[in-house]
Amino acid sequence: MPFDISVELFGQKYANPLVMASGTFGCGEVYKDFLDYSKIGAFVTKAVTMEPRAGNKPQRLVETPSGLLNAIGLQNEGLKTFIEDKLPNFENYSCKVWVNISGASFEEYEHIVTELNPFDSISVFEINVSCPNVAHGGMNFGTSCNDIGQLTSSLKKISKKPIIIKLTPNVTNIAEMAISAEQAGADGLTVANTFLGMAIDTEKRKPVLDNVTGGLSGPAIKPLALRCVYQVYKAVKIPIIACGGISNHNDVLEFIMAGASLVQIGTAVFKYPRCPEEIENGLLKWGKAKNLNNISELRGVAHDA
Ligand SMILES: Cc1cc2nc3c(=O)[nH]c(=O)nc-3n(C[C@H](O)[C@H](O)[C@H](O)COP(=O)(O)O)c2cc1C
Repeated sequence: MPFDISVELFGQKYANPLVMASGTFGCGEVYKDFLDYSKIGAFVTKAVTMEPRAGNKPQRLVETPSGLLNAIGLQNEGLKTFIEDKLPNFENYSCKVWVNISGASFEEYEHIVTELNPFDSISVFEINVSCPNVAHGGMNFGTSCNDIGQLTSSLKKISKKPIIIKLTPNVTNIAEMAISAEQAGADGLTVANTFLGMAIDTEKRKPVLDNVTGGLSGPAIKPLALRCVYQVYKAVKIPIIACGGISNHNDVLEFIMAGASLVQIGTAVFKYPRCPEEIENGLLKWGKAKNLNNISELRGVAHDA
């Protein structure tokens, strides 16, 4: 029997556990000439906000050893243009589409969920309470158990699709945040967004990013994100979607063994747009060599040791 890497989640079937992370895959249009979308389970759109946002002023990106610092600031064209220009394409993609939603107030999140509810081409709402690069909303909600709980329960009342809360790792105890979301009815958790960091230009004697701080992503954060997933899996029963520095099939296996049901790939796709295909092949070969039936058998096994 071939090694089965498909995953059943929220009553939906994913071709494999690979999900392209928000902000690194546009709204699907960017990679369609490079990548066969049947080689991924899903992609998550760039964050959608109610009104268009220009994002932060440049400089917004800094390369670091093994990582990328970004302070994009949720640049997007707003809900109306998203519905008119991006959404109609979703039916043409041979993978699932998740929409990443961000807002400066609870009402904004509620409005966007209500407006997007009718569209069958959207499989999941990923609620971004973890953007480190905006002054209002974003990570402010994600660092308060109370706000996470209130927002989750209000969205659960109106949403016709699974609600996944994307947590920030920039807290003392990420498991507490996960428990608040679970108790308020969240269907799953993305663990996690970027880690707050910065860089200083020593010639100019000032921070490189105009926003001063940014979110660190890429291989540098993988061990940190893995620790977060491991801790969250111990604390909650709802599915975890791992995210942080994943760039090869062994990374994927580590996160699944720590407790993830699906994994997200972000920064790695900037370096090599076809990496999902390579990761899928790596997983298939690995499972076959080990004589395994299904990838889901591996979920959380590192906790049994
Ligand atoms: C340029 C850039 C833009 C991003 N934009 C968003 C966003 O709009 N919404 C969001 O939830 N996460 C956003 N993220 C965070 C990623 O989805 C992901 O959580 C993070 O990069 C860690 O994964 P990685 O190390 O695989 O890149 C962004 C990341 C990058 C690098």
